Amino acid sequence: MLFPVFPRSFPMQRTFILLKPDTVQRRLMGQIVARFEAKGLNFIAMKMLRITPELAKQHYAEHVEKAWYPTLEGFITGGPVLAAVVEGLDAIRVVREMLGATSGLQAAPGTIRGDYSSSQQMNLVHGSDGPEAVDREIALYFDEDQICRYEPVITPWMRAADEG
Ligand code: TYD
Ligand code: MG
Repeated sequence: MLFPVFPRSFPMQRTFILLKPDTVQRRLMGQIVARFEAKGLNFIAMKMLRITPELAKQHYAEHVEKAWYPTLEGFITGGPVLAAVVEGLDAIRVVREMLGATSGLQAAPGTIRGDYSSSQQMNLVHGSDGPEAVDREIALYFDEDQICRYEPVITPWMRAADEG
């Protein structure tokens, strides 16, 4: 008997997330990690660190020339952060949509920024905005051997097999 092969509807992706210093200071790390876990994303790397001005300029290379960059650098280097890699179906888009709009005041209720932030700068979490950013940002924070892939035993209960 031939078993049907279901094409995968969404790509399995990695994305990079950074819980910014406001998340750590406000003791929201647990709640925010819990939201990504509950959604079905697998944490496959995690590290606390203090971002240096040099790393900030690499991370935010596309914004270094902006008028608001100096205050952003002061903020992002102003306390420890939690860097992480998560993996899941369509993870880049899913994480960005879970974050919400850049400004916490404009982000929709139900998003992380919409629920917890009232600021454009102190918006709690960064998420890579595309596949090239994912590769670049993961390489800034992690060596490949620090990434711990695994197959969660709960997978059969997260999504029907015939959904692809
Ligand atoms: P951006 O890439 O526009 O936002 P996003 O994080 O949603 O991709 O900007 C990067 C970060 O820069 C943003 O998360 C917060 C900060 N920022 C400011 O501090 N001031 C600003 O006016 C903007 C637009 C962003
Ligand atoms: Mg961005």
